[in-house]
Amino acid sequence: MKIAIGCDHAGYDLKQEIIAHLQKDEHSVIDCGTYSRDSCDYPDIAAQVCSLVLKENIPGILICGTGIGISIAANKLKGIRAALCNDLYTARLAREHNDANVLALGSRVIGPGLAVEVVKTFLSTPFAAGRHQRRVEKICQLENGSLREE
Ligand code: RB5
Repeated sequence: MKIAIGCDHAGYDLKQEIIAHLQKDEHSVIDCGTYSRDSCDYPDIAAQVCSLVLKENIPGILICGTGIGISIAANKLKGIRAALCNDLYTARLAREHNDANVLALGSRVIGPGLAVEVVKTFLSTPFAAGRHQRRVEKICQLENGSLREE
């Protein structure tokens, strides 16, 4: 599977660890940076990863200190459904119910062992569709302004 990944300075160490695991599992990883622990701005990284997610229709992984800033930034982009998941249950449901295309992680919240399992769960769980399809479609309608209060 092809996967885009990116982080800010706070997420750098965890990103390196996750990349190593993804490559061991023979995934093809596109690393959008950042490439050191030097301070940078997470919206810049969210923009790069999300642009690949949308263009190539691949999953994305974003990491910052809490996972909050980078997921808020990602969710400003039309077509992105970024889910902040620091446990296995939300990782599974983010895919099954929400068809999330970006996983956000908080490197200061979650340890590397659990983070790798969260990534595996996110990547291996399909969207359940059914009743969830209609709700995801309504999220798209919110993006394009066609869902109105009744
Ligand atoms: C950087 O210090 C920190 O603010 C950032 O990584 C993230 O946690 C923001 O939401």
